[in-house]
Amino acid sequence: MSGVLLLNGPNLGALGYREPEIYGTDTLADIEKAVADEVSARGWDVVSVQRDGEGDLVGAIHAHRGTTVGAIVNPGALMMAGWSLRDALASYPSPWVEVHLSNVWAREQFRHESVIAPLASGVVVGLGAFGYRLAARALLHLVAEV
Ligand code: DQA
Repeated sequence: MSGVLLLNGPNLGALGYREPEIYGTDTLADIEKAVADEVSARGWDVVSVQRDGEGDLVGAIHAHRGTTVGAIVNPGALMMAGWSLRDALASYPSPWVEVHLSNVWAREQFRHESVIAPLASGVVVGLGAFGYRLAARALLHLVAEV
């Protein structure tokens, strides 16, 4: 096992041009590179999966459960009601960190609850693309050296 699962949900493939005043101008490719930069010294690579459909995200979690050391998960809007995503993550055996680029607490009320957060090792919110780097560093800390 030597991969970090970088899982991004609906609309996150549009980073770069999607509401840049909220989500910044970094693209998903930029974020993939940043996470790889953080974890490469440990010999980990990045398995990046972005899907707009919840079922595809569920499938990716099961497909990579045995081959990844941990995960970074931005569920996008599925944070609010992604119950099957939540159940898939409950079966994921390694540490994972939830990331939101924007400060969801400073936004609309409907973004204030995450159904997956109670299962996460930790949550990084509101720090833009840098939050993914912080999540990667958290995984370096959470995953025991072998
Ligand atoms: C988001 C916040 C969600 O509320 C929103 O639906 C997204 C992006 C974030 O990264 O800030 O798609 O997860």
